[in-house]
Amino acid sequence: MNKIQSNKFLRFDSKISKQMLKLYHGRGVDTLFFHHSWSTVPYELIASFVPEEGLIYDLGSGRGIFSNCMALQSPFRRVVGIDNNLPRIKCALATVKDKNNPVFYPGNIGEEEYDECEAFSLINVLHHCPSYRFQEKLIERCYEKLKPSGRLVIVDVNNRPRHKYVLCCFLEHLFHPLSGIYYRNEEKMLRLLEDVGFRVEVKPIDQNIPYALTLYLAEKISGSRELV
Ligand SMILES: C[S@@+](CC[C@H](N)C(=O)[O-])C[C@H]1O[C@@H](n2cnc3c(N)ncnc32)[C@H](O)[C@@H]1O
Repeated sequence: MNKIQSNKFLRFDSKISKQMLKLYHGRGVDTLFFHHSWSTVPYELIASFVPEEGLIYDLGSGRGIFSNCMALQSPFRRVVGIDNNLPRIKCALATVKDKNNPVFYPGNIGEEEYDECEAFSLINVLHHCPSYRFQEKLIERCYEKLKPSGRLVIVDVNNRPRHKYVLCCFLEHLFHPLSGIYYRNEEKMLRLLEDVGFRVEVKPIDQNIPYALTLYLAEKISGSRELV
């Protein structure tokens, strides 16, 4: 299912894409953001690495795109999206209507209380956190709250390919001129995750997209099971 080389995850004709298009249809500027995100981030591929059942926290869930994608992909996931940007949470809430999965609520991901869970996701969120120390504490927190063999799924900007990295830097400065950008390259991200105790697999996912995105699959070690 999760073949990294394939670009099928960026197309709009999969069953989940069609369902997602419906959820985000007719929402003005949020629809535009959805189209941009859905065509530049392989959400379906990333979601295929998340456990298929259990409690999943989508930290920094934004407009709820990844949370909705995970819930559509497997009805056995209970997905909770948290974000501190109220307009985005409002958009996310509008997509769920009277369904009870996913659920969204506003909050600071560094201060929330989390239940024991199967997985956390941080999709393009870490570099938006207010400091490197904040990132470290957050990752330690995720480790504590994950069940044995639970997964932390991170997507963030790497420093290569160089031209894609430069584009990411340019766009971040353009759209967030007043806030810091806390990128970690692959080496630093790996060190952080392994120091906390995770076993990590790294997968470049920038094929067919303009951004230097890398996927980190971090498993809470509890035996010798290999990541698949
Ligand atoms: C680039 S967006 C990614 C949104 C979503 N993960 C996605 O892939 O569509 C980053 C999100 O992280 C959220 N965020 C950053 N720092 C946060 C914090 N401390 N608490 C909650 N949300 C935060 C922002 O509000 C923003 O919606």
